[in-house]
Formats: sequence, structure tokens, C-alpha cells
Amino acid sequence: MAEVVIVESAAAAGALVADEIARLIAGRPDAVLGLATGSTPLPVYEALRPRLSDVDTSRVRAFALDEYVGIDPAHPESYRSVITREVVEPLGFTPEQVHVPNGSTDGIEHAGDDYEAAITAAGGVDLQILGIGTDGHIGFNEPGSSFASRTRVKTLTQRTRHDNARFFSSIDEVPMHCITQGLGTILAARHLVLLAFGEGKARAVAAALEGPISALVPASAVQLHEHVTVVLDEAAASQLKLADYYRHAFDNKPAWQGL
Ligand code: F6R
Repeated sequence: MAEVVIVESAAAAGALVADEIARLIAGRPDAVLGLATGSTPLPVYEALRPRLSDVDTSRVRAFALDEYVGIDPAHPESYRSVITREVVEPLGFTPEQVHVPNGSTDGIEHAGDDYEAAITAAGGVDLQILGIGTDGHIGFNEPGSSFASRTRVKTLTQRTRHDNARFFSSIDEVPMHCITQGLGTILAARHLVLLAFGEGKARAVAAALEGPISALVPASAVQLHEHVTVVLDEAAASQLKLADYYRHAFDNKPAWQGL
């Protein structure tokens, strides 16, 4: 079962996860991080700044989950730009350390295989940060995605395009296609850390963690993984049937166990 941690705020979640990432890098200077974009991971990236300021991160590698297909990489909302702005520059990484799937239409047929090969060559992802879509997606694995899927091109649902229109001037500007790590790729990471904040995520979170494992709820794939940490604020946790038990278990967690 995933460990579910319910915290008072997104900032507290960011601090908790950033502590874990800093601990990972201290013990493994060539750690491989899996990065998410969107608004959810921002408190983690923010909390990482002071924690990594005196740490040698020159051997860390990172892989983003996804990218829009056909977007100009220089567009401020391309995930390449977002990762550069939110992770590479503030945390002092070089662009070469941080990989983002290639969303260029030129060569898109093999971009997924190339990305998988790069993750494998790096030794696989140690800690994968995940957000969750209101339709239950992780990465951009929309409902119906195969649990065995690998990095490939997907068509975004209208709901996801609508949700992401806030980053663009209109829904028409939100690309129709994306290239995303598959559920199989995500499940191969050694530790999954799923974050969610706000009431709007409560239904998807409950379906993913306490509902049946189903392609209709791609995030339910995390139930198949042996090391999952889910960090939620009260609003995102509000539809969980076992919320009191999760609190009880975390409050009584043995001190020697990390996240
Ligand atoms: C982004 C990603 C998506 C987002 C999800 C939630 O790289 O993989 O799964 O995590 O769409 O987005 P936000 O965090 O903006 O609510």
C-alpha cells in the first residue's frame, strides 16, 4: 500500500519531499530524479533551493515526464522552458543534466524509444515526482493508457487541455498531442512520490488510491508499486475513506524509516 502523508499545506509538502530528495543526493551523488511539471511540484522545487545550495549536484541527472508535441521549445509553456525556469536555473543544474522528451515533430517516431534508452543508460530513475490530473492521469497517461506503456505520443483529453488552458491564452493554443513517459516507465522508477493539493484533486486521488486498479484511472497504477509516498493537503485528502488510518500510521511511524 502507498504511504499517504496528509500535511497542512503545499509548502509543508514541498519541505517534506525536498528533505527526502536532499537525503537521496547526499547518499547517492549521481542520483537520477524524475521531474514533473505543472503547478503541483513547484513547492518541492522551491524548497530544494536552500537544501541544495551547498551540495555538489554536478553528477545528478534528471528526466522530465512529458512534453507537448509540436510546441516551440522556446515557448514559455513548453515543458523544456518550464523545467529550465523552475529547476535547471534555480537549482544550478546544467541543461545537459536535465532531460525532457523531444516534442519536435521532426523525428517524433523514435523520440519515445530514444528517451527510454537515455533513462536506461542513466541507470533508471531513483525518485519520481508525480502530480495527478483531475481525470486521474499521471505523466500525460490519459484514461485508457496501458499499464505496460512506455514513452510515446498520446492525444490529450479535452479535459486536460481545458485544465492546462490556464497556462496559455486560450484552450485553442494548448497542443493536442504530447509525448509522455508511459505507466510502465513510471512504475520502473525505484520510489514514486505523488503530490496533490486542493479540492479539485480529491476525487482523482481517492479513485487512484482506494478504487479499483483500472485503466480508467491511470494513477491507480501506483497501487502496483512497492515504494510509493503520497503527500496531500487536507483538501486533496478529503475523499479518502482511510484518512484517519493514514494519519495514525504516519504519526506512529518508526523513526528509522525514511519516506
Ligand atoms: C506534468 C504532468 C501531469 C501533471 C498533472 C497535474 O508533467 O505529468 O501529470 O502533474 O496534469 O497538473 P497540475 O500540477 O498543474 O495540477
